[in-house]
Amino acid sequence: MTETSTANHHTQVEPKRLYIETHGCQMNEYDSKRMVDLLQTDQPVEQVFSAEEADIILLNTCSIREKAQEKVFSQLGRWRKLKELNPGMIIGVGGCVASQEGAQIHKRAPYVDLVFGPQTLHRLPEMLNKQNQTKIPVVDISFPAIEKFDHLPQPQVDGPKAFVSIMEGCSKYCSFCVVPYTRGEEVSRHLVGILQEIQHLADQGVREITLLGQNVNGYRGPTETQDICGFAQLLYHIDAIEGIDRIRYTTSHPLEFTSELIQAHAKLPSLANHVHLPVQSGSDSILQSMKRNHTVADYLHIIKELKSQCDDQLSLSSDFIVGFPGETEKDFLATMQLIETVGYDNSYSFIYSPRPGTPAASLKDLTTMEEKKRRLSILQHRIRANAEQISRRMVGNTYTILVEGFSKKDLGQLQGRTENNRVVNFASSNDDLIGLFATVEVVEARANSLLGQFVHCEELEAV
Ligand code: SAH
Ligand code: F3S
Repeated sequence: MTETSTANHHTQVEPKRLYIETHGCQMNEYDSKRMVDLLQTDQPVEQVFSAEEADIILLNTCSIREKAQEKVFSQLGRWRKLKELNPGMIIGVGGCVASQEGAQIHKRAPYVDLVFGPQTLHRLPEMLNKQNQTKIPVVDISFPAIEKFDHLPQPQVDGPKAFVSIMEGCSKYCSFCVVPYTRGEEVSRHLVGILQEIQHLADQGVREITLLGQNVNGYRGPTETQDICGFAQLLYHIDAIEGIDRIRYTTSHPLEFTSELIQAHAKLPSLANHVHLPVQSGSDSILQSMKRNHTVADYLHIIKELKSQCDDQLSLSSDFIVGFPGETEKDFLATMQLIETVGYDNSYSFIYSPRPGTPAASLKDLTTMEEKKRRLSILQHRIRANAEQISRRMVGNTYTILVEGFSKKDLGQLQGRTENNRVVNFASSNDDLIGLFATVEVVEARANSLLGQFVHCEELEAV
């Protein structure tokens, strides 16, 4: 419990204790951090890490699959009891479930005070004040273009890595997906705003940036000269920022994976040799029914170009949906074939979940859940085997990792990540290495990480 500065500090306003729980994607993780930044600029706020301690609870929700949505209401049910004990407590629901359900949230959970969407989180302080004055629940799930980013304070830094959101929403309307409805259509942030944010992060020691968006390569950001900056160009601008030596991005879409972007991978050493390029299925008829607007051959063409421009080290990952309505055994085997051809590293895979309001939800679906689970298990097994093989092949080679801090399990070890996102632990107690790029030799492949040996760190030697 935080019982520190109570009685004697009458002149000081007691900080509000804020607990945020985040479900779903990295965009949500990013948004949640920004909510903390934002509320802290408005009033004294202390972030706490359990709901029991909180005055304000915010739940940043995900509606991509059924389970994600159900989780929201069971979580709210648990917090209701806390609120009964502490009636002054504020409960807010944001993110995609909020966006989709809006005022309906109150029907199922009348004790919720605030409902806000992914595009209105910057209005949180206002909404809180309004609720405080009126004691009436406040709902705002509108899509006010991209004003959000003009209203957020510069982010706080924790560690040498940071996420930066570059665009919001999606206009691809895959037939199974709720994102275009919950996050709205694609809107890109202004180029200058993004570069300023990254400069601010670099000034505080951030070395690695992950650019976020539902379709980052659909980025078309307005520039100061009223031009439009594409995604590949954005990467060149970021590469030029001193201190930023590793750039990642997620998620990209096969449709706008231009040759300029492929060339950027060849030309920019800071761009990680890893691409997450979701394909969903390896069957043309399923891709068509999913409205992905490309074929398996189009996808393989991109992969071939990427591999030939970069080197064999390029690591690829994807998202897969199994059991999409109408998926036959043959379609599934086509996906398995694609997995073999590409040689994916760790990837995400899901059983199709019908989402209300999406076109695919009305398609006939005759495959049993048991069969879908069988397919998912085969696919996941294959991907895991591929990933393990990739890890084993790394043994004996040296890699550059960004040292992030001490291993949680063993304080005699530091840890960092390789370009292909493997955690490497290595024996060292030299905390000067944290935040620097170091060369390590991989000596052992473990289930979820690699064991390494420190080789050298040019940056440390240069000091
Ligand atoms: N912008 C990304 C997808 C974002 S959603 C893209 O271009 O593909 C993240 C992943 O969730 C998707 O790639 C998909 O694999 C999965 N997903 C989305 N809707 C789903 C649904 N209705 N059922 C199961 N999985 C789904
Ligand atoms: Fe969803 Fe397709 Fe966009 S999966 S986020 S509609 S690219």
